[in-house]
Amino acid sequence: MSARVRTAILISGRGSNMAALIEAARAPDFPAEIALVVSDRHEAGGLAIAKRARIATAAIDPKIYAGRDEFDASMQAMLDIHRIELVCLAGFMRILGGPFVNRWRGRMINIHPSLLPAYRGLHTHERALADRVKEHGCTVHFVEPELDAGPILLQARVPVFEGDSAEALAARVLVEEHRIYPQALAEVATRIATG
Ligand code: GRF
Repeated sequence: MSARVRTAILISGRGSNMAALIEAARAPDFPAEIALVVSDRHEAGGLAIAKRARIATAAIDPKIYAGRDEFDASMQAMLDIHRIELVCLAGFMRILGGPFVNRWRGRMINIHPSLLPAYRGLHTHERALADRVKEHGCTVHFVEPELDAGPILLQARVPVFEGDSAEALAARVLVEEHRIYPQALAEVATRIATG
């Protein structure tokens, strides 16, 4: 097998999608290796999970930088040091600047809790319930400068039930997130590995 694609996961919170990616990448034939986890919040719960899995971690605090360009430059330096080839955003709540995103075009993916192009942005489950949609879900897509708008790699659908709460719906969607994100990562890593 050719070398596994060195992958970084960027998080801001609990890191359940990150954990699903780490778990999937334990398989010896998985085409990506999780080489780094970076958070923009020191207190992100996912950092402890990554450390327990013996993955290199870093926290980059946006407050110590003059602006977005400086933060993005620090992130890029971290990715360079770890020779990262592919980036997964997994609940990363910070908007990355256009130059950074363009530099990673085709090599940076995100998981979003809606069936894009429906419900870009935040509070997707609440908005889906308010619209009384029958189906909801999640999307893995390539990241482009426009928020939640890049080419779609994989989607999964879940039913919306009468009387659903946002929490119940979010939990139903999350199960699917944990299933499709590793699949999408494998697909992109294979594409990169095979040129
Ligand atoms: C997930 O719902 C993901 O779709 C969204 O942010 C949430 C992150 O959850 N982008 P977790 O940190 O992966 O548990």
